[in-house]
Amino acid sequence: MENRIGSIISSKRKALGLTQQNISERLNISYQAVSKWENGTSYPDLELLPRLAAILGTTVDGLLGYPVNALTVYEERYKSEDYYWGLRPNDMCYEIMKLMPPEKPCRVLEIGCGEGKDAVFLAKNGYIVTAFDAAQSGLDKARRLADKSGVGIELFKADIRDWRPDEDYDIIYSSGVFCYLEEGLRREFTESLKAHTVQGGLNALNVFVEKPFIPTPPDREKSESYKKGWLSGELFMYYHDWFFHKNDEIIFDCNSSGAPHQHCMDILIAEKKG
Ligand SMILES: C[S@@+](CC[C@H](N)C(=O)[O-])C[C@H]1O[C@@H](n2cnc3c(N)ncnc32)[C@H](O)[C@@H]1O
Repeated sequence: MENRIGSIISSKRKALGLTQQNISERLNISYQAVSKWENGTSYPDLELLPRLAAILGTTVDGLLGYPVNALTVYEERYKSEDYYWGLRPNDMCYEIMKLMPPEKPCRVLEIGCGEGKDAVFLAKNGYIVTAFDAAQSGLDKARRLADKSGVGIELFKADIRDWRPDEDYDIIYSSGVFCYLEEGLRREFTESLKAHTVQGGLNALNVFVEKPFIPTPPDREKSESYKKGWLSGELFMYYHDWFFHKNDEIIFDCNSSGAPHQHCMDILIAEKKG
């Protein structure tokens, strides 16, 4: 089994700007011990886990790679009968289909699938879809939508802040979710997606980005990730070594919350070339 705890400790420590020495001093152990955990050559003692979790701003579950209490306002939003995001698939789904039609078995991972409209659409079109979200109510709705549409998709609950892929995919897709990744996790997270994409595979992603001339949206959640929003072009930078089919930045009007405002979004469709 892969040693997940080491990489989780490392990414959370870096996200908080702590050194291995800082952690070791607070736990009264040697910094070499912390280094060994992060290298995957040893595990922390059980009795240290609660204090270690507290220092790293998570729970013992979070340290072990289980979803941390899901977090999101979406848990409530998705409880209504209506589909909060509607059922129209995102344009990126059509672009994926043009670039990589499922002429042979084609595995798609959707990150943050919400109520499942895109995952189910792709499955209906012949892709083998695995999808996750932090909101159980969204996953339940995605399951009902898949059943109603007569397609099978694999769904599970996970948190992008501590979940990392351990299988390879032809396509990794995510819309409207990367904004929940804190600054210190972004490079490492995208690297893990790139590493788990097959040669010639695609990553189709979008993320809200900051623009100094666009005021903060009135309904923006007060989550940690938003302490430092994504910069314009930041997503493209993490994929600098891939071939770009699309790298667009759009500004669009929005009326969620009843107050008209604008968003800026970077959209990337990139291919892993050998
Ligand atoms: C803007 S919605 C987009 C949903 C879906 N991708 C769509 O386009 O319909 C953002 C989604 O991210 C999920 N989310 C928020 N924080 C998350 C986290 N830390 N880990 C996984 N999913 C998260 C929410 O539950 C929500 O479903």
